[in-house]
Amino acid sequence: MSRTLLIIKPDATNRNLIGHVVNRLERAKFKVVEMRMVRLTEEKARKFYAVHEGKPFLNDLVKFMTSGPVVPMVLEKENAVTDLRTCIGATNPANADCGTIRYEIALDIEKNSVHASDSDDNAKIEIGFFFE
Ligand code: CMP
Repeated sequence: MSRTLLIIKPDATNRNLIGHVVNRLERAKFKVVEMRMVRLTEEKARKFYAVHEGKPFLNDLVKFMTSGPVVPMVLEKENAVTDLRTCIGATNPANADCGTIRYEIALDIEKNSVHASDSDDNAKIEIGFFFE
């Protein structure tokens, strides 16, 4: 078993899609082991996306991620990181495979409804960011 972090982003919480996303994840055999609802400060959002420092989309991304509540959760499954990224689909929903969460509900490359860790090492760091 391994663990990863998923965040339901403000575009999805604002459209009342928290239950929908959790249902999709549970049906895909992920176990929710921790979950909370938080409002990110600008400082926290910048820290979380520090890897994107200098990218042209960072300021808008921070504005978006602080615009409403987000729901970070720790998910457990065999091959959790890879399987979750398959399940959510490509960053840009225009390129997301049919049947993925982003294909279904994401609005655009920024308001793409969910974030998932991209490696086991980053999963540990990102889980520690929201949960002790
Ligand atoms: P996420 O998986 O959370 O990782 C970084 C986020 O930046 C990404 O999803 C999008 O919400 C946002 N973003 C906005 N524009 C871009 C872009 N051009 N390339 C990658 N990510 C982008």
